[in-house]
Amino acid sequence: MEKLVVTGKTHLKGEVIISGAKNAAVAILPATLLVDGICVVENLPNISDVKIYCKILEELGAKIEWIGPNAIKIDTRFISCTSAPLDMTSKFRASYYLIGSLLSRCHHAQVGMPGGCKLGARPIDQHIKGFERLGATVEISSGKITAHADTLVGTSIYMDIVSVGATINIMLASVLAKGTTIIENAAKEPHIVDVANFLNTMGADIRGAGTDVIKINGVDRLPGNANYSVVPDQIEAGTFMLAAVASRGDLIIKNCITKHLEPVTAKIVEMGAFVEDLGGDSLHVWCNKRPTKVNIKTLPYPGFPTDLQPQMGVILSTAEGTSIINESIWESRFQYTEELNKMGAHITAQGKSAFFEGVESLSSSPVYATDLRAGAALIIAGIIAEGSTEIYNLEHIDRGYENIEEKFRKLGAKIERVEDTSC
Ligand code: EPU
Repeated sequence: MEKLVVTGKTHLKGEVIISGAKNAAVAILPATLLVDGICVVENLPNISDVKIYCKILEELGAKIEWIGPNAIKIDTRFISCTSAPLDMTSKFRASYYLIGSLLSRCHHAQVGMPGGCKLGARPIDQHIKGFERLGATVEISSGKITAHADTLVGTSIYMDIVSVGATINIMLASVLAKGTTIIENAAKEPHIVDVANFLNTMGADIRGAGTDVIKINGVDRLPGNANYSVVPDQIEAGTFMLAAVASRGDLIIKNCITKHLEPVTAKIVEMGAFVEDLGGDSLHVWCNKRPTKVNIKTLPYPGFPTDLQPQMGVILSTAEGTSIINESIWESRFQYTEELNKMGAHITAQGKSAFFEGVESLSSSPVYATDLRAGAALIIAGIIAEGSTEIYNLEHIDRGYENIEEKFRKLGAKIERVEDTSC
């Protein structure tokens, strides 16, 4: 087992280049199954979720060639199988996109119940409702989801709740359906726009992605034969912005879409730190004094992202005054607060709210990444704490951040990945 050893206190300083978006990549890879041709996907983050997805696509009959550290050429003309390997699909959440893609391309899909970070109940009823509205039958038994349709026919689908995954999955399922599908109350996250842009580049006809009404005019075939570059990762960029503030540092964040980061920028400025838009695709973020308390409520885009809530929690642990975070997306996203309390934070989590009584500083402790974003938060906590913090459960972090320790190290952090010999 490996662990990270982070030795604080460091004021981060320098430039960081943001990778392609994990949550776009893990939807675009299964979307390649809709292409009856060859396509090139660039700016793929080199993370374990992407590697597993590539293996699954190969098992289904796709031919993948890595043509650079972050680019693949994928030929999905001869997909031969509609059952995704159960052991692999149950390892991560985004495997549910295989249902929409295989249903659309092959009219049949069998996928293991998706796994992923444990953030509370993660139902998929809205995905299933969408598939059934398009004419599919869906059955869940023995840990597997089986979906089948002789024909998929476009229709109007109103989402009962705003769901990123269900919006993308219904988009995937309807691209090759007969007629027009309208998704109302759709999610608007940047990666939804990115998946729609990828599909349109390959020959689909999707309009309105990024608004709450998405219209998909079914086409007969996606010929592909095009290149697509994955959008920069909003959450990785936000993670480094918040790390700059937490460490009273000074960072230039390169290759980001500043518009996607407005909800984070607004809160950073409210806390008394600084964000300067350098034009193009860069932000300058710095903080020269103790941040002041702010209250946060996580919301679907364009609200404050739940995936940046734990990283923000680290800042609030050492901010002046008492701050409150209300988590409105996930039932159970405050597990990291127990780890921060081991490091000297004063946080009380009650249901979907947490109260952060700011302390002067954190101190080192062995801590456990309870999920991906909690892992990123603990790295930031280690960077600002006195002493050496040991972080365990790195598999969560490796799922979603490319070269995270290397990127932090270039900013001055003292961070090492070592083999844990104590067990
Ligand atoms: N929900 C339902 N029924 C459904 C689908 C969702 O009740 O059929 C509920 C969920 O339980 C949750 C809310 O709706 O309370 C929103 O869930 P959503 O479907 O939007 O989340 P997701 O698609 O499963 C994606 C990201 C998450 C991110 C959320 C919210 C991927 C692979 N995952 O999850 O990312 O937190 O959207 O933005 O895109 C992460 O990257 O660390 C991560 C957890």
